[in-house]
Amino acid sequence: MSLQVGLVVGSLRRDSVSRRLAQALQPLAPAGLAFHELEIGALPLYNGDLEDAAPPAWVRLRGAVRESDALLFVVPEYNRSIPGAVKNAIDVASKPTGRNCWVGKPAFVMSQSTGPLGGLAGSFALKQALAGAGAVTLPHPEVYLGRVATLFDGDGRLVPDTQDFLRGALASFETWIHRFAPRASAS
Ligand code: FNR
Repeated sequence: MSLQVGLVVGSLRRDSVSRRLAQALQPLAPAGLAFHELEIGALPLYNGDLEDAAPPAWVRLRGAVRESDALLFVVPEYNRSIPGAVKNAIDVASKPTGRNCWVGKPAFVMSQSTGPLGGLAGSFALKQALAGAGAVTLPHPEVYLGRVATLFDGDGRLVPDTQDFLRGALASFETWIHRFAPRASAS
């Protein structure tokens, strides 16, 4: 049985590079990982007052995180941190108290930017929030894809070096998932 990896794409833009990257990952991943995107773009902002009748989009996200064996985040950096949509998704699925969906979930963070730093600061901010929520994030390899526009060829495919790098990173993630996910160790 494949391990279900919930994919969080950190940009809501139609032509998002984060989404293009995320869409390129399945063919590079070990056969035992199956990716499915989690919807974060239409989540109402977290507000504890709404918990008595939680918005359907919150309920769907919480269920999807709970049913995922692991989570993979592909994110841009916004103002040296993470996009608000990503932080809101983490907040929503961490509540209500006692029903935090992130606890113990293996996670992996990939960041990208058009500049040279590859979204390093945003990646760190995300890893900090995930640690606070109780997820266990793969420490190595680190994936910061700088000057991301140069990593795609004229046909929109990732260049071979980047494919190789990401293939290796995803293999490490599979090993990491097997260390933590109950369903992984049962199979
Ligand atoms: C950015 N961008 C950006 N880049 C960066 O390297 N450091 C930063 O702090 C920021 N800050 C920032 C804030 C806001 C509000 C936006 C909209 C953009 C640039 C951005 O990360 C970069 O263009 C990404 O490649 C965009 O990713 P998507 O939307 O194509 O996935």
